[in-house]
Amino acid sequence: MNLDGAVVLVTGANRGLGRSFVEELVNRDVAKIYAGVRDAGSVSIAGVEPVQLDVTSDADVERAAAECGDVTVLTNNAGISTETSLLTGSVDDARREFDTNFFGPLAVVRAFAPILAANGGGAIVNVLSVLSWVSMPTTGAYCASKAAALSMTNSLRTELESQGTQVVAVHVGFIDTDMAAAVDAPKNDPAVVAATVLDALVAGNDEVLVDELSRGVKASLSGSVAVSAGAPRLVADPAAAESGFVAAAGLVIDEASTDRVRGHIDVDDSYHTPWGIVHGGVYSTAVESAASIGASAAVRDRDMVAVGLTNTTQFLRSITKGRVAVDARALNQGRSQQLWQVDMRDDRDRLLAHGEVRLQNLAAS
Ligand SMILES: NC(=O)c1ccc[n+]([C@@H]2O[C@H](COP(=O)([O-])OP(=O)(O)OC[C@H]3O[C@@H](n4cnc5c(N)ncnc54)[C@H](OP(=O)(O)O)[C@@H]3O)[C@@H](O)[C@H]2O)c1
Repeated sequence: MNLDGAVVLVTGANRGLGRSFVEELVNRDVAKIYAGVRDAGSVSIAGVEPVQLDVTSDADVERAAAECGDVTVLTNNAGISTETSLLTGSVDDARREFDTNFFGPLAVVRAFAPILAANGGGAIVNVLSVLSWVSMPTTGAYCASKAAALSMTNSLRTELESQGTQVVAVHVGFIDTDMAAAVDAPKNDPAVVAATVLDALVAGNDEVLVDELSRGVKASLSGSVAVSAGAPRLVADPAAAESGFVAAAGLVIDEASTDRVRGHIDVDDSYHTPWGIVHGGVYSTAVESAASIGASAAVRDRDMVAVGLTNTTQFLRSITKGRVAVDARALNQGRSQQLWQVDMRDDRDRLLAHGEVRLQNLAAS
C-alpha cells in the first residue's frame, strides 16, 4: 500500500499508540488524516481532522463513514484493557472488552469496506497484540478479545482479497502508553511501533511482528501448551532449544513448558570417555540445558532469560549406549532466581544422573 496521497483514518487517535500513528503520518506524504476520537476536543495535532468516533456506537460509526468517504487506509487502533480474569472477573467488563476490541473494529470495517473498495482497495490495519496468541490469567478477557480480533483479521483478509484490500495484523508486546502504565517490564516506544507498522504496510506485508517478544512467541507456536500456575501457557523458548551447543550435545527437546522440560539423548561410543563409558559432561550439559530452557521460558513474558549460576550434577550409574531420558522440573521459581532439578534415566528407568541448577533471571538485552 502506497501511503503517498493516502487518506488515513486512525481510531483512538487522541493518545497512546493512536496519537503516535497520527504524528508519524504527519511526517509522511499522506493527503489527509482523520483522527477518530470519542472527544473531538482531545485532538491537538495541527492539520488533522477530528472525527467523532466511539467504535462501540453504531450511530458514530455510521456518521463517520458518511463523513469520511475518501478514506483509503483504516487503522483500527482503539482498544481497552480492563484486567479482567475470565473466571473471577466482571462479565460486564469482559463484554466491554469484546465490544471495544472486537465488535467495535468489526463495525468500523463493515462500514468502511465499501468505501475502501470504491477508492481502489486500500488497506486495513488491525492493532492486535502478542496476547492474541498467549493468555495471561490476570487479563484473560483482553487476551480472548484480541484472539477473536486476530481471527476476524484473518477472515477479513480472505473476504476482502477480491476488492484488493490489504489487511494487516499487528502483533506487539508492551507499549509505553497509559494502557501499560502499571506494567513494570520493558516497553516499546509507541513512536517506533507506529513507524514500524507503517513501514510494513508500505512494504505490502499482511503481518507485523513489531518486537522480539512477538517474534519469539510466534516462533514458539508449535511448542507445547502446559498448565502452569493454574493457566495454560505457551512455553517453549525456541532460541534456547535451537542452540547449536544443545544440538551438538545431541539433546533433543520433546516437550518444554514453564515448569517442566522433557527430552532425550541417544548415546553411543562417540560419547565415551577413554575408558569406555558415557562422559559425565554429557549429563551435566543436559542438566544445565534443560533447566535453562524451562527457566527462560518461565520468564520470557517479562522479556528476561534465565542464566545458570550453579550446576550440581551427581553421576549415579554408568552406561555405554542407549537412550537417556531427560526430565527437568522447577522446584522454585522466584522473581529473581529459580531452582530446577533434572533426572536422567536409561531405557530401563534406572536413574543415571541427578542434577540441580540454580538460575538467575536477567533482562534479555
Ligand atoms: N499498551 C500496550 O502495552 C499494548 C500492547 C499491545 C497492543 N496494544 C493495543 O494498542 C492499541 C492502542 O492502545 P494504547 O496502548 O495506545 O492504549 P491507551 O493509551 O489506553 O489508548 C487507548 C485509545 O483507545 C481509545 N478508545 C478506547 N475505547 C474507545 C472506544 N470505545 N471508541 C474509540 N476510542 C476508544 C482511547 O480513547 P479515550 O482517550 O477516549 O479513552 C485512547 O485513544 C489497543 O488496541 C491496544 O489493545 C497495546
